[in-house]
Amino acid sequence: MTPTSDPAAQTAVDPSADWWRHAVVYQVYPRSFADSDGDGMGDIPGLVSRLDYLADLGVDAIWISPFYSSPLNDGGYDVADYRSIDSRLGSMDDVDRLVAESHARGMRVIMDIVPNHTSSEHPWFQELLASEPGSPAWDRYVVREGRGADRGQPPNNWRSVFHGSGWSQIRTPAGEPTGSWYLHLFDTTQPDLDWDNPEVHAEFRDILRFWFDRGIDGFRIDVAHGLVKEAGLPDFDYPHPDEEKQQAMFEDDIAHAPFWDQDGVHDIYREWRSVADEYDPPRVFCGETWVPNPERLARYQRPDELHTSFNFIYLEAGWNAAAMRRTIDETLANHAAVGAPPTWVLSNHDLVRHRTRMAPVDVSGARDLDRGLRRARAATLFTLSLPGSMYLYQGEELGLPEVVDLPDDARQDPAWHRSGGTDGTRDGCRVPIPWSGDAPPYGFGSDSATWLPQPHDWADLTVTRELGDPASTLEMYRAALRIRRASSALGEGSLLWLDAPGDVVALRRPGRDGTDVVSVINLGTGTVRLPAEWGTDLLVSSSDDVAALSTDDGPPSMVVGGETALWLAATS
Ligand code: NOJ
Repeated sequence: MTPTSDPAAQTAVDPSADWWRHAVVYQVYPRSFADSDGDGMGDIPGLVSRLDYLADLGVDAIWISPFYSSPLNDGGYDVADYRSIDSRLGSMDDVDRLVAESHARGMRVIMDIVPNHTSSEHPWFQELLASEPGSPAWDRYVVREGRGADRGQPPNNWRSVFHGSGWSQIRTPAGEPTGSWYLHLFDTTQPDLDWDNPEVHAEFRDILRFWFDRGIDGFRIDVAHGLVKEAGLPDFDYPHPDEEKQQAMFEDDIAHAPFWDQDGVHDIYREWRSVADEYDPPRVFCGETWVPNPERLARYQRPDELHTSFNFIYLEAGWNAAAMRRTIDETLANHAAVGAPPTWVLSNHDLVRHRTRMAPVDVSGARDLDRGLRRARAATLFTLSLPGSMYLYQGEELGLPEVVDLPDDARQDPAWHRSGGTDGTRDGCRVPIPWSGDAPPYGFGSDSATWLPQPHDWADLTVTRELGDPASTLEMYRAALRIRRASSALGEGSLLWLDAPGDVVALRRPGRDGTDVVSVINLGTGTVRLPAEWGTDLLVSSSDDVAALSTDDGPPSMVVGGETALWLAATS
């Protein structure tokens, strides 16, 4: 690898400005990807050392979760300085090298921006704590007077996504409580910024330019739907009396809360879009938008707003033919109305890995992880055939399950601590990746004491073990991405539903070169014979339970086992 000081100088990336409309983007959770210095925590040099792996996998871009200076109270989503790198993860030189080396391999680099809140260690919040009430430093955050005679009660009833009140009392430098409270929709160390303040707007425009000028291709926007709060900060009539259920960011009724998906948030993205469009090629955005339906989601993709946003509604459809098909239809229709491609995702660093999520649960409560893997592979293959772009989360290409038995004292998720150990299971999908070998740290680094402990039964899930094994999950991903890239039918474009029996969902993607792709998923457990007119020209399948069978009275047709997906080439 040859380092370069000029990220733009070595560019082998897809030159088209609309690469994002069909890209496969791989999410890197940097602390858990690869550890270069043996401290048990992944870092940017570790990621750079593994770029060949990602290029060979066939992804178009990488999105990297935050690596800014941070106390890491929420895995880096608590940013203390948006213009510097956490020393445990690397340096600015490392980031420049990451961009240059990614571009040289044809991959774009998307960073993560966190505009809803800063860390309480950010100089702005420290300035607030050190200054007199009412000084300009107080106007950068959502600060209100408490309720009650001594203003000792929170200003309203909003709750933190991580449990407990969404408000904390501001204390004087001597530790005395004041009558003022600051909002934190997440951890107490993540105070919410006040987006009514023009200084906040100016600061974030400047941060965007800072990184765009360094060659970054775009940003994933954290809590993109949460920046603007309803005027007057009214109490929310929580639909569930049960505190546990009040946490979900995305349940239908919660999504209508006065702190989510407010119309005013769109003005911010119009402003940001004009910053991104100053660049050549234009920089791009992907919103983390937990909204109740595809119509609300597509609003974020209007032509002068964000390019893409995660479609979590499809992810929630789960292993259900009718729900999948309905969500796909609604998503396509709503995105078409604004001229934007949908963005599909099945796993990320906040969610139970889809191998485990999709695993059937037996009467004793045990999950069948073998069937979970079979379903996850089928779901991935089918989803990769949908129009638009797709995000993959590190380790899903290896078929990693969620780690459900982390020792309590290893857990880091702030929601775990704030809920008294009843919630906050996000650590289970953040366990460091197994690269090689038979025991921890599986080539992740040189120290077996990784920041989250790895299971002892991952020897068969390492990159080294799976590479070259045609039955492995990794080889299925590699094949699918290779075919997707080569096919004019996949990526952006249209979709035609095919009439399919029972629990089968099937569609046809027309190719511009006369070769279509028929994509089929059998969500049932029984074997199904597909119509002969779909052909038997198999491109890739999620299990080897597929075969072309002849019939006595007609052309051969495909027979597909349960919980299996496949792609067929079809001549149009
Ligand atoms: C969403 C991020 O994905 C999650 O990891 C984080 O805890 C919250 N936003 C708060 O920043």
